[in-house]
Amino acid sequence: MDWKIKPSKSIRGEITVPPDKSISHRSIIFGAVSSGDLRIRNFLTGEDCIRTLEAFRSLGAEIIMEENAVLIRGKGLKGLSAPSGPVYLGNSGTSMRIMSGILAGQDFMTVLTGDESLSKRPMRRVIEPLALMGARVKPLEGGDHAPLSIRGREERLLPIDYNLPVASAQVKSCVLAAGLYADGTTVVREPFQSRDHTERMLGYFSADIRKKRLTTEITGLRELIPRDIDVPGDISSAAFFIVAALLVKGSNIVLRRVGLNNTRTGVVDVLKRMGGNIDILDPGHGFEPSGDMKVGYSKLRGTVINAREIPLLIDEIPVVAVAAAAAEGQTVINGIGELKVKETDRVESMARNLSNMGAGIEAVRDSLVIHGGVKRFKAAVLESFGDHRTAMSMAVASLLSDGECVIRDTACVDTSYPGFLEDLRNAAY
Ligand code: S3P
Repeated sequence: MDWKIKPSKSIRGEITVPPDKSISHRSIIFGAVSSGDLRIRNFLTGEDCIRTLEAFRSLGAEIIMEENAVLIRGKGLKGLSAPSGPVYLGNSGTSMRIMSGILAGQDFMTVLTGDESLSKRPMRRVIEPLALMGARVKPLEGGDHAPLSIRGREERLLPIDYNLPVASAQVKSCVLAAGLYADGTTVVREPFQSRDHTERMLGYFSADIRKKRLTTEITGLRELIPRDIDVPGDISSAAFFIVAALLVKGSNIVLRRVGLNNTRTGVVDVLKRMGGNIDILDPGHGFEPSGDMKVGYSKLRGTVINAREIPLLIDEIPVVAVAAAAAEGQTVINGIGELKVKETDRVESMARNLSNMGAGIEAVRDSLVIHGGVKRFKAAVLESFGDHRTAMSMAVASLLSDGECVIRDTACVDTSYPGFLEDLRNAAY
């Protein structure tokens, strides 16, 4: 499916972005191994999270779609059962990496498979710590890629003290999930702060978990107490509208109930630093805070984004690159290595597309350098490369182009934001 996007005169109105993908995944994963019933309100029914939901059904969890919620009948830490065949996780790296930690604690074997993109993504980063904990995780076709077979340890898992080689919330969450099954205290240290939804949710479910700066400790074998979850809007999905409103003259939008967890708001900090007019109204509290955002057209200037900030806006870099191309002056984004191993190589996908639209962008070793100053992008045919965030970022750039743009192969957007095009058409005048 291709999209045709026309230049826009302004972005206006109120938008309720879809529920947070990371929190939706975790609510199924940890809900299914909690000790009773819980309801998830505002669950994201995008493809990735549905894969997680179906995966846990195939592991014996009872998950019921109600009118306004998803009811999970938690099976307890050890109550899952062997699936009847390989478990297919589509495009979803989060499902595969975090589930691996849970499956390492089960006393049956599971095979996890994925689509072409997921089967190319690095899995050594979860295989290694799980092996140290005593689980057997094997890439069935060699290399360090899916399909993975995961067999738990007959006795309990061994607790480890582990330094994450990369700041990855997926890997951290995998080790913490396995830590639920370890006989003792597992320690995970990360080089930079990455999103902490797992730590928050496990704390909310009364796990024995403690966090001090970049170190998280979890003591295993304590049951998880189920509690209802109301998922806030996804700031990563909101980011497309934030940048669209900042770039297109005359824009003014309100985004409703966006998740404001401070390990996710790096995109707001960076765009404000670039001169963006973004106000957060009535931020709420709770285990995952949320609030409304008001965004208006702004004259942006370039900035430097440091490696330490990257995990706090990892999924928003593609759309920040669009903002940088239109900003005055140069933007340098350092420490971009992890961007190359996402659903596609997002350094390559954004460099190719933005260059086609006349922007100056180059990858220099581990940095992306963007020469700003574009007033109007050149209309072009753009590629998603099968990656949802590349597709939506290019839709945002198209709003500021000098003619109609085509974005090819956009079905991938359903993984995180099924109604994106409709929301964009409603907001773009
Ligand atoms: C996610 C973590 C990030 C992010 C992904 C979702 C999560 O990946 O890119 O979209 O839910 O934990 P890494 O932590 O591996 O960088």
